[in-house]
Amino acid sequence: MADFLREADFAADPFTQFAAWFAIASGSLRQPEAIALATADASGAPSVRMVLLKHWDERGFVFFTNYASRKGEELAANPRGALVAYWEPLGRQVRAEGAVVRTGAEESDAYFAGRRQRSQLAARASEQSRPLRDRAVLEAAFAALEERFAGAEVPRPSTWGGFRLVPHAVEFWQHQDDRLHDRLVYRREPAGWRLERLAP
Ligand SMILES: Cc1cc2nc3c(=O)[nH]c(=O)nc-3n(C[C@H](O)[C@H](O)[C@H](O)COP(=O)(O)O)c2cc1C
Repeated sequence: MADFLREADFAADPFTQFAAWFAIASGSLRQPEAIALATADASGAPSVRMVLLKHWDERGFVFFTNYASRKGEELAANPRGALVAYWEPLGRQVRAEGAVVRTGAEESDAYFAGRRQRSQLAARASEQSRPLRDRAVLEAAFAALEERFAGAEVPRPSTWGGFRLVPHAVEFWQHQDDRLHDRLVYRREPAGWRLERLAP
């Protein structure tokens, strides 16, 4: 059985706590940065998909995507989101909820510039979430870009970049074999982060 979560052992803010858990998860999972991201459209209808958590700090959790994708359009209409990570070998779940804002262009440029060229070209070639008549259409678009940018730097398309989920709540959940699981949630308050225990 995992150790019980104790409030006294938790960091003063959720990002420091997340860093500690992420470091442990990195030791036992191939892709701990794979998270589910939920958004909702203007009417409140939800949708969810996996994205890669590329960065986090005291400002929030960052992922990169196509701004014109379904999630991008939903976030433009309703700039709030929720994310969840599940780290099975550890029996741990982390959830976060909050506002979602675009990262600055410089942050997106820096991340895009560090990607492999094939990833950069794929980001340009794919009109993410749009109907695609045939796979061959995408392959042809990719091949044309490969030729156009042979040996050259691939600029970041203006439709591609980062989002930052700025949480007002972050919950840490620990499985316990006796089913008396631990849940500790940080809530943002004017004075700072408050930690609260929830029933499992
Ligand atoms: C493990 C995993 C990681 C993914 N990471 C990303 C990502 O970082 N950014 C992204 O745009 N799509 C990512 N995808 C694809 C998305 O799940 C999704 O198919 C795509 O973003 C389109 O979603 P949308 O139509 O809701 O906008 C990932 C998929 C998986 C399975």
